Order: sequence, then structure tokens, then C-alpha cells
Amino acid sequence: MASKDFTPAAAERFRHRTREIAAGLIAGMPRGEGFDVMDAYARPLTFTVLREVMGIAAHHHDGLYRWMCTLDAGSGDPVAVTAALDHVEDLVRTELRRRQAPEAGLLASIAAAAQSSDATEDEAVSLCTMVLIAGFGVTTQMVGVCLLGLLTQESVLSAVLENPSLLPETVEELIRKDTSAPFTTVRRAVADMVIGDTSIPAGDDVLLSLGGANRDPRAFGPAGLHASGSRRSRHLAFGHGPHYCLGAPLARMELTTALGELLRLHPELSLAVEPSELAWRGGYQHRVLDKLPVLLGPGPAVTP
Ligand code: HEM
Repeated sequence: MASKDFTPAAAERFRHRTREIAAGLIAGMPRGEGFDVMDAYARPLTFTVLREVMGIAAHHHDGLYRWMCTLDAGSGDPVAVTAALDHVEDLVRTELRRRQAPEAGLLASIAAAAQSSDATEDEAVSLCTMVLIAGFGVTTQMVGVCLLGLLTQESVLSAVLENPSLLPETVEELIRKDTSAPFTTVRRAVADMVIGDTSIPAGDDVLLSLGGANRDPRAFGPAGLHASGSRRSRHLAFGHGPHYCLGAPLARMELTTALGELLRLHPELSLAVEPSELAWRGGYQHRVLDKLPVLLGPGPAVTP
């Protein structure tokens, strides 16, 4: 139902608009004082792109952003999380009903596909809500984690500043080495099997470690080294097989644009704290960086 809206070509069509959103947010960043780049940039950028890709009306922006942030913050307050999920589903249902006529955006495609198939409205609502949740938090995190990777590896950062065309392959390496979605969702073994020296009986639940596989020296060479060429592109940060990430082309476009614009306009960007002072949150399945304090130089902005 949704795959034609998530091709590399569809993502590419959004690059120009993503640059505009990035430039607007960068223009509002404070000079000469530390600020949280997750709040000021990563979160609003990935949210706005996703809302527009979905075709959700602009007047829902603030409410939906608040609820999505509550969902993303997770744990803490289960009542707030359940209420936020109800709000998001209600909004998606209202928007799907409005989009019976063909219009741009994923919601319109899903509304049309649901009408011409056996899919129920509930299924369409749950697909759109799943895409919103899957597309927001992890992409926001990856913008922050990739930026942290660049700001803490001087040689990688200078190579990209000197030659911005290296950014796409650098991003692939950064997400290979440090993904914010290190495990798949749960799989269930349908038959007895043996993988390496581990026996898995039929019916057992299995979690696959994408983060572990991404650092397998047999596939990528010694840890810490930059993998190159075909080795690099074999990483599993977007999963593999039937559940391969639907939004991978969009995420790649967002990451390269978000990092590219920020570094182009502010090559002097630096961390405002020591990496050891950063607070990471999350369990085994997600690793979350809520805040990433950075500093822009005091100089005048380079015009977009
Ligand atoms: C850098 C950002 C992203 C990363 C690292 C990432 C990672 C992943 C991974 C590892 C999976 C597979 C999970 C599994 O096998 O159980 C997945 C699935 C998925 N992702 Fe992403 N994702 C990202 C961005 C996005 C975006 C932007 C969207 C949509 C707008 C999206 C939508 C989805 C959906 C719908 C699935 C489920 C696919 C299925 O089960 O058929 N993701 N993602």
C-alpha cells in the first residue's frame, strides 16, 4: 500500500523542500551560546518532513508534534503515552477520511488503496500511525548520532568539510557503526534451527542484533576502521528481508540533507560539552540521545 511513496525517486523529490526546512531552522539557531541541536533541529526537521511526506495538513503541526514527542519520549508516563497514541490515531483517521479524493501524500495513497482493496479503515489508520512512529524517533536519533560521530572524529569531519560529496558514504559508515535501532522487532522461529552453535526450537521468540552484525569483522574488517566500497553498503542498519525499512531512502535523504546543510552553513559547529557528559537513555532495543548541546561560532551567518 505504501511502498510507491517511499522509493528513492520519491525521497529525492523531497530534498529541495527538506533543504528549505533545514535552512529555516538553522537561521533561528542562537550564536555564541550552547543550545540543544536535537530540539532546535533534528526533531523539528524530521517531524516536518514526515508530516509533509504523509500529506498531513499544516494546521495539525503543533498538536501532532507534541503527541509524537510524547510517544518518542516513551516510558515515564504511560497515561500520557496512551493519550498521545489515541490523539495521533484520531488525527490520522480524520485526515484519511478527508483524503478520499486523490491528493498528494502517503495518506492519500493509503486512503485510495484501502478503498480499492479489502483493507479496513482500522488497518489503514494503523499502517499510517506505524509509519509516523517508525519514521520519527529513529531518524531524529540518527541525525543526532551522526552529528555526534562527525563532531568527535576530526579527520572524518575535515574530509567531509573539504569534500561534501563524501557525505553519503560517510553517513552509511556512521549508521553502520552506531545505529539507534540496534535490534529487529521480535521474530518467531517457525521450525527448529541451528545458527552457528546455537539451537533455536520452533516457537521461540528471537531478537536479531543488527548492531552486532554491523560490527562483524568478517564482513566489515577490523572494528574502528572505515569499511569501503561494497563492504560499506552491506550494513544492516535498515534491516534485511521482508521487513526491510520502508523509509530507508527517505531517511538517507533526510540525513544527508540535514547534516549537509548544517555543516555547509556552520562548518565551525562544535560540541558544547564533553562526549562523556552526554546522557543516553533507553533499554536494549533503542539507544536514545535526548539532548546534544552544540555551539555555533559568533561569526555572521553564511547566506543560504
Ligand atoms: C535512519 C533512520 C531509520 C533507521 C535506522 C531505521 C531502521 C529500521 C529497521 C532496522 C527496520 C527493520 C526492523 C525489523 O526488521 O524488525 C525498520 C523497519 C521499518 N521502518 Fe525504518 N528506519 C529509519 C527510518 C525510517 C523512516 C523515515 C520511515 C518512514 C517514514 C521508516 C519506516 C519503517 C517501517 C514502516 C518499517 C517496518 C517495515 C516492515 O515491517 O515491513 N523508517 N526501520
